[in-house]
Amino acid sequence: MAPRKIIIDTDPGQDDAVAILLALASPEDVEVLGITAVAGNVPLPLTQKNARIVCELAGKPETRVFAGCDAPIRRKLVTAEHVHGKTGLDGPKMDDPTMPLQDQHGVDFIIDTLRAEPAGTVTLCPLGPLTNIATAFSRAPDIVDRVQEIILMGGAYFEVGNITPAAEFNIYVDPEAADIVFRSGVPLVVMPLDVTHKALTTKPRIDAFRAMGTRVGTMVAAWTDFFERFDMEKYGSEGAPLHDPCVIAYLIDPHLFKGRHINVEIETSSDLTLGMTVADWWRVTDRKPNALFIGDLHADGFYQMLTDRLARL
Ligand code: BDR
Ligand code: CA
Repeated sequence: MAPRKIIIDTDPGQDDAVAILLALASPEDVEVLGITAVAGNVPLPLTQKNARIVCELAGKPETRVFAGCDAPIRRKLVTAEHVHGKTGLDGPKMDDPTMPLQDQHGVDFIIDTLRAEPAGTVTLCPLGPLTNIATAFSRAPDIVDRVQEIILMGGAYFEVGNITPAAEFNIYVDPEAADIVFRSGVPLVVMPLDVTHKALTTKPRIDAFRAMGTRVGTMVAAWTDFFERFDMEKYGSEGAPLHDPCVIAYLIDPHLFKGRHINVEIETSSDLTLGMTVADWWRVTDRKPNALFIGDLHADGFYQMLTDRLARL
């Protein structure tokens, strides 16, 4: 089968970085048409720079990286330096990238690509707040039906919130954007905290990255070490969840994941539960299913794939 054409929309972030590396290491499965950066974990000047750092680390400086929206549609940006550090990619010091940032705005790139490629052949992979995707859909409604699928990291149901008691970070930062995407009618696959909290970076898994003996392996081990400290303290778990790589892993081997096709709606008005993904997991309403909401994964299979693929870089 030909590789799936994808656009990665991202706010790196150490876990975003690992997701980008996994995609760039897997050309037989995915063709990365471009990477669009969005404001999220840290402000846009850092996320676009971090995306380029990661492409260079992968040895793929020809990857096209675009800067998209620098703020949510209607709200003030909320960032997550408390998790990812001041740069968004804290851990070992990285040199500034030398590969260029593309001149075109990320939203225009998404619109032009969806218009230029045959309908139903481009998959969007959002790993951050959904601002770029929703802005593209609002500005160019003709592209919505041309999207093959959206596979995104965001939301939570049984695990509830990580930035507020009710909401997961990516959805909370731009709930209006998430609402546009979840109502768009595009087939959605959602990787909520319910599944990503099962993709834990235990010590043996980090040791396996380090044991690769490559620059990528060493960096990924160092990033995951850094990222871990916060989540282990917070959840008392034996490692940190590697959220965003679940999106790319699903494209490579969907059999690693299990979920339910259900209705998911976004809370956009309540102060208390703003950004909550209200997931009808038990199908107690007659609201139309709009998302494959993933709840489980084969964690060892996921880490085996990740280690094998990253070892190629
Ligand atoms: C999500 O928020 C970010 O901090 C991570 O990169 C991930 O995309 C998890 O809630
Ligand atoms: Ca992210």
